[in-house]
Amino acid sequence: MALKFLSCALFAAFVAVGCGDDSTSGGGGTGGATGGAGGEGGTGGSGVQCDVCTDYGAAVPAAVDEIVNRAATDPQFEADFAPLVMAGDAAVTAFKASLTAFVSDAYGCTTGTYEGPSMVEAHTGLDITQEEYDAFVGLIAGVLADAGVPDDYIGECFAPALTDPTFAADFIGK
Ligand code: HEM
Repeated sequence: MALKFLSCALFAAFVAVGCGDDSTSGGGGTGGATGGAGGEGGTGGSGVQCDVCTDYGAAVPAAVDEIVNRAATDPQFEADFAPLVMAGDAAVTAFKASLTAFVSDAYGCTTGTYEGPSMVEAHTGLDITQEEYDAFVGLIAGVLADAGVPDDYIGECFAPALTDPTFAADFIGK
């Protein structure tokens, strides 16, 4: 019950849909290099055709830029990002490039371009809670929505990779 509420609430962070008793939210496309991200060609539960790389691959650097800018100034995350910000603009720029490579690989748009630490290594010591993780995913959804990505596309094609419990487990409680 609690789990169902959580997954419902999380999904609702992406797209305002009702979560009925028997709702089985459709996943996005499958595939992707890092534990099953959005990938290509999948059809979401409401019939959205997911082709993340064709549709939005070129926009990943700009989206990552905005995600990092918002995270670094969001009261919920700024303490975690303060050391990076204190390290200066070059460090922030390098981080954005690395995150761009990770995201591109994760959604299957590129392969093997990410050369940074594992997600467990990168997030160990941050003690990220489930709530913080969910809020971060919500921040990402907000950036995509503000960039004009339709809500159903976000919910069906971008969200499943991030809300996948196996993926999230590398970030939470480390
Ligand atoms: C969708 C979830 C997330 C993804 C895909 C993600 C991705 C990444 C990646 C790829 C790196 C390593 C980059 C590198 O060192 O080259 C990283 C580092 C980091 N992440 Fe995350 N992250 C996520 C969630 C979070 C959350 C929820 C927080 C904080 C609340 C966070 C804070 C950080 C910090 C502080 C670093 C280290 C920055 C530095 O180099 O100083 N991340 N993240």
